Amino acid sequence: MEHTSSPDTQIRDLLQRMTLPEKIGQLQLVNGAGGTIPDDLRAAVASGSVGAVLNEVNPAVVHELQSIAVHDSRHGIPLLIGRDVIHGFATVFPIPLGQAASWNPEIVRRGARIAAREAAATGINWTFAPMVDIGRDPRWGRIAETLGEDPYLSGVLAAAMVRGFQGDDLSQPSSLAACAKHFAGYGASESGRDYNTTNIPEIDLRDIHLPSFKAACDAGVATFMTSFSDLNGIPATANDFLLKKILREEWGFDGFVVSDWESVSQLSIHGLTPDDRESAFEAAQAGLDMEMASTTFAAHLASLVEEGRIPAQRIDAMVENVLRIKFRLGLFSHRHEHTEDLSVIAHPDHLSAAKDAAVESMVLLKNDNNLLPLATTERTSIAVIGPLADDPYEQLGTWIFDGDERHSVTPLQSIRQAVPEDVTIHHARAMATTRSRDREGFDEALRCAADSDAVILFLGEESILSGEAHCRADIRLPGNQEELIREIAAIGKPVVLVIMAGRPLALEDVIGSVDALLYAWHPGSMAGPAIADLLFGAAAPSGKLPVTFPRVTGQIPIYYAHKNTGKPAIPSEVMHIDDIPPRAPQVSFGLTSFHLDAGASPLFPFGFGLSYTTFRYDNIRTDTPEIQLGDRIVVTADLTNTGDREGTEIVQLYVRDLVGSVTRPVRELKAFKRVLLQPGEMQSVSFELHTDDLAFTNRHMQRVTEPGEFYAWIGGSSETELKARFMVR
Ligand code: NOJ
Repeated sequence: MEHTSSPDTQIRDLLQRMTLPEKIGQLQLVNGAGGTIPDDLRAAVASGSVGAVLNEVNPAVVHELQSIAVHDSRHGIPLLIGRDVIHGFATVFPIPLGQAASWNPEIVRRGARIAAREAAATGINWTFAPMVDIGRDPRWGRIAETLGEDPYLSGVLAAAMVRGFQGDDLSQPSSLAACAKHFAGYGASESGRDYNTTNIPEIDLRDIHLPSFKAACDAGVATFMTSFSDLNGIPATANDFLLKKILREEWGFDGFVVSDWESVSQLSIHGLTPDDRESAFEAAQAGLDMEMASTTFAAHLASLVEEGRIPAQRIDAMVENVLRIKFRLGLFSHRHEHTEDLSVIAHPDHLSAAKDAAVESMVLLKNDNNLLPLATTERTSIAVIGPLADDPYEQLGTWIFDGDERHSVTPLQSIRQAVPEDVTIHHARAMATTRSRDREGFDEALRCAADSDAVILFLGEESILSGEAHCRADIRLPGNQEELIREIAAIGKPVVLVIMAGRPLALEDVIGSVDALLYAWHPGSMAGPAIADLLFGAAAPSGKLPVTFPRVTGQIPIYYAHKNTGKPAIPSEVMHIDDIPPRAPQVSFGLTSFHLDAGASPLFPFGFGLSYTTFRYDNIRTDTPEIQLGDRIVVTADLTNTGDREGTEIVQLYVRDLVGSVTRPVRELKAFKRVLLQPGEMQSVSFELHTDDLAFTNRHMQRVTEPGEFYAWIGGSSETELKARFMVR
């Protein structure tokens, strides 16, 4: 094919020459066979009836598939080669929720860039990431893949991830087309049970669930994936409100939309359609461009066109969307012949970046008496206990199809290296898995703790307890872990608890038994070095929670940006179930919104995280008491490092719109900054807000900023009290 004309002209030219079956072929994404090319796949690629393949990572096989497509098919259209490259390839970075705890777009961008470089070396050119669903339910296993509960934070990090995967130019051999998924509302699955129904009012959809997708779109994401879930009665895969009105009309997206795995054929299981034929019809008409795994498009689109039910132009538009991305990826410029050198895979520089990301992702949630960093001068022995202390696989987390545990460095290995020679490390696994219900390893673990001057416990959840379809109805530590913690604590040695998990766990019942708690999520390949640096003070924690931690499962959903209600809880009046006198009469005055057995507050709020130093915030002010619509206001506070160590603080700005034509959240994150301060150092930290940053969706589904009074808080978590006021006129 001649390459001198513009992609648009070439696409038009191709469309004129393609038959209807060839066009429909571009809309089919099939599963690869993993290392071989079965005859039917070979024939399908050669005949042009497949446009994209997923789950094929063998470079030689990918190369051969591309060469069949380019040389043997009539129009020589190269293939998209898709893969779930979610938080790294062979080098595994922290799970996305952990990366979000860094609140550092550069860390997130760099992780995605490295993942792209490693994956692209094998010939992969499309990743099914970032997942930008809002995660407000820790029962949901896929919260591990989200960037947390907040629309603004998720949006900033989603854009960074897109920039990382796609690089400066999608046509570079190291770039992958990214995919914003799962459009939309998936995170709201009822009861945190995967694939479950969602019912989301349009205002919440627009203000909570869509902004991170819009941010990915604005960052130039090449593709979108529809959600498995049913949104307000219409499954996302056939939801024309999402796929046409929002995505194309309002946002002007010009890439393509792929279904999730068999989510087109599942439309009949949802009960939206009677059969595959109608599923193909509904999905194509709603705005879906490509079908993953199921084959209803291949089976039925041609006859639907012939019958006049689907206009031929609709098929052309779908194919155009797909070809546009193939052009942008440089596939028509022989990009696939220039795959990178495989030696980039798990390159030492990549592992070192994975360590930096792991350090920044961990959140220090408790540190009584400054137990951490652990001084090795006063201790001659340390006990390292738990099923996750030395498990190279389980530290990697969910979705690590290509993660290579041979590159993992475990906490036990790194702790042994980090301590001076005269410090003895006693190790006991204590439990075979985090789910074990027997006490077989308890005696050894307790002896080990008794023989040591301090205990570091590595507990939490194995990788397989979070991720797709791995939801939990009870998010306490599984198995006998709570019992283990209590028995170890009873020995009386200082106890550090390091949790590796894919979700916030409900730790209310054990938090009092430990002196320090470091939340490490699933940190990836370099868990060990990152944790050892933090435990012994070679690095200081700076992570902040991207999601609220409930005390108990029954508090879910619990998130900081909730509405006030007409009867908000008054903390001093929250009553505990044990305080109710027998035969207490029911009264209807003075009642407020809380749980008798859990109160109204979380265990740890969104945005929270300690450092090894302390910070003081004061003197909040605005540069003007009031602004007009269209103006900007600057909110400033003074931040001082009041401790005796250097430390990085993630300074957060929250806003409340006091009165709205629809009720507004009690706080909303609007901006954040990382600030590094030496002991005693003070810095004034300022944030500029435009009145557009205060906009929300009104009753008429318009995005508006309404004049009135606003509060602004600056602080180190969503519970900061340091507040200013301003007016918008
Ligand atoms: C199903 C998952 O929901 C989606 O996130 C993933 O990208 C596809 N399977 C492909 O593996």
